[in-house]
Amino acid sequence: MSNSPQKPVVIVTRKLPDVVENRMRELFDAQFNVTDKPMTQSELIEAVRRADVLVPTVTDRIDRSVISQAGERLKLIANFGTGVDNIDLDTARNRGITVTNTPGVLTEDTADMTMALILAVPRRLAEATQFLKQPANEWHGWSPTWMLGQRIYGKRLGIIGMGRIGRAVAKRARAFGLQIHYHNRRRLPEAVEQEYEATYWESLDQMLSRMDIISVNCPHTPATYHLLSARRLRLLKPTAYIVNTARGEVIDENELARLIENEAIAGAGLDVFEHEPAINPKLLKSNRVVALPHMGSATIEGRIDMGEKVIINIKTFMDGHNPPDRVHVAMF
Ligand code: 8YV
Repeated sequence: MSNSPQKPVVIVTRKLPDVVENRMRELFDAQFNVTDKPMTQSELIEAVRRADVLVPTVTDRIDRSVISQAGERLKLIANFGTGVDNIDLDTARNRGITVTNTPGVLTEDTADMTMALILAVPRRLAEATQFLKQPANEWHGWSPTWMLGQRIYGKRLGIIGMGRIGRAVAKRARAFGLQIHYHNRRRLPEAVEQEYEATYWESLDQMLSRMDIISVNCPHTPATYHLLSARRLRLLKPTAYIVNTARGEVIDENELARLIENEAIAGAGLDVFEHEPAINPKLLKSNRVVALPHMGSATIEGRIDMGEKVIINIKTFMDGHNPPDRVHVAMF
């Protein structure tokens, strides 16, 4: 492929920022989804039959059935996104298809969104603004006992997954006076723990039962599916909050909704859901839930940087080199 004068056929499943699509047009035989409607499974199969490179997003399920029907020429799946739980990595590897992702460029935006939720839920921001905007409600002015939330300063934040995003959250949270605790597959080196003044909990159960706020920042893998199971969620203090900007599948959403409904935990800030775009109605109904439509990395700069990464991965691969963001199955 690298010696071929023909441009590779690159099929992009969703609308990307114009600047990204324009550059792809210059470099590749790029085919775009002008309607931006998520492709059906049969459209994805049709795409992998024709493409040299597929550029999917989180809304595409690139499962065994799709990958096993790929044409001989499909050699690269260049995911527009960091999480690769939408792709069957084992099947791709067995078929000799390389997978890349876009790590790093969405770390700060996602950490900002996490911090926003950590602040918004205990301080009741969404509930308060909704109150003011409802024509049926009348605000009678300041009151010493109305709309009281919980203080954030000095509370214990338990971060699940201390990778790039988890650490960026820790950095922000320290500036807000939160105490940093974490659970991770591997303990961080002492110097890194000192940098964040972070306390490691080998036992997730023990950490959960002692935290004021939990932030989920680990990838969704077979090992982290329902990591926050019904049993574990029940370990949380009734005054605890939970924030998730990672993947909905890490939390048993039904149980979370039940606990919120029964006031067995204080609230939740959720940017991701187990069955997107469906959301458990109990969560949407609750005043104690701030729900966002998966927008952790939704900045113009972030999405352009992600596109740039996708382009670099495709270009490097097509030139016969190891793409910088190659995903290895063991990483996930
Ligand atoms: C992306 C994300 O917008 O990169 C990720 O893993 O969760 C999001 O921030 C989305 O995945 C794009 O495919």
